[in-house]
Amino acid sequence: MNVATRDIPDPRLVDTFGRVATDLRVSLTDKCNLRCSYCMPAEGLDWLPKPELLTDDEVIRLMRVAVEQLGVREVRFTGGEPLLRPGVVGIVAATTALRPRPEVSLTTNGIGLARTAEALAAAGLDRVNVSLDTLDAERFRTITRRDRLSDVLAGMRAAAAAGLTPVKVNAVLLRGVNDGDAVSLLEYCLQHGYELRIIEQMPLDAQHAWDRTTMITAEEILASLRTGFNLTEDPTERGASPAETWLVDGGPARVGVIASVTRAFCGTCDRTRLTADGQIRNCLFARDESDLRTALRSGGSDEELADRWRLAMWGKLPGHGINDPSFLQPVRPMSSIGG
Ligand code: 5AD
Ligand code: SF4
Repeated sequence: MNVATRDIPDPRLVDTFGRVATDLRVSLTDKCNLRCSYCMPAEGLDWLPKPELLTDDEVIRLMRVAVEQLGVREVRFTGGEPLLRPGVVGIVAATTALRPRPEVSLTTNGIGLARTAEALAAAGLDRVNVSLDTLDAERFRTITRRDRLSDVLAGMRAAAAAGLTPVKVNAVLLRGVNDGDAVSLLEYCLQHGYELRIIEQMPLDAQHAWDRTTMITAEEILASLRTGFNLTEDPTERGASPAETWLVDGGPARVGVIASVTRAFCGTCDRTRLTADGQIRNCLFARDESDLRTALRSGGSDEELADRWRLAMWGKLPGHGINDPSFLQPVRPMSSIGG
């Protein structure tokens, strides 16, 4: 860290509850080539205007501030669909060149992976998370409103072949749509050596259609998985991971459940988020953001940017409050925050 000369008690991204954010999620674009029903409407959204998006150089500068000044150790690129960003490989390469070298991963819908996996691996990308909710082509089309299942499967194979491992697979189950797909998804992942994580649906859709009473809970996810597999406690330490994991049929294979709603993990959260238009969010569900883009474009120094970032994290609330009657969904949908 470059802050030894400055009188800051803890230069990292700490909050009033003692949490330290060392895991940075960066949305590289809000655009997507799918239209998952739990994320956005069929017609898509009003994408962010180009002049508001950070340029590649601006993203890279902020990654440097995060790693060198703020103690960020892990960087995850997300979207929208991050592979739609033309400069993604260069941004990954510049990030893995930082010291201390952060762990760098990417969350993608998998569609562009078959053509980019090799280049991403060469740029130093460590691994990928691929979103996949079903292995049934018809249901895939119903959920994502696009006929692209085979592209996603090819993308996952390319990622594994390029060494972007472990390939993690994120699935969201929707009642009456793909809630019967947990076992087949796990079978497929076991066969291919991928790690499946099933995520409770969160109130982050642009249409505000999320309904607590119909979402598939972690308890239901586990019951469904147990119809096909024996799940036992995973002895490895969970740390700040949002996923709770189980050994499958005695291990070593594992399966994870991310129960953001019914078993919230805000108390151990170590995440900070940067949107594609240069806003810091201290939580997925935050109601306000801190503008770094204006400071960046008006000539702010690295120290100034770091201070703004620290201030943004200091005010992080203890939890997301989804289960409170007064909960209000954030204005920004998931596709422009990044998972
Ligand atoms: N609830 C839970 N997960 C979601 N994702 C997108 N929208 C939601 C939501 N409302 C998932 C995607 C992807 C990851 C970034 O987040 O499926 O895997
Ligand atoms: Fe695209 Fe991900 Fe939203 Fe699906 S969930 S529409 S893949 S951003």
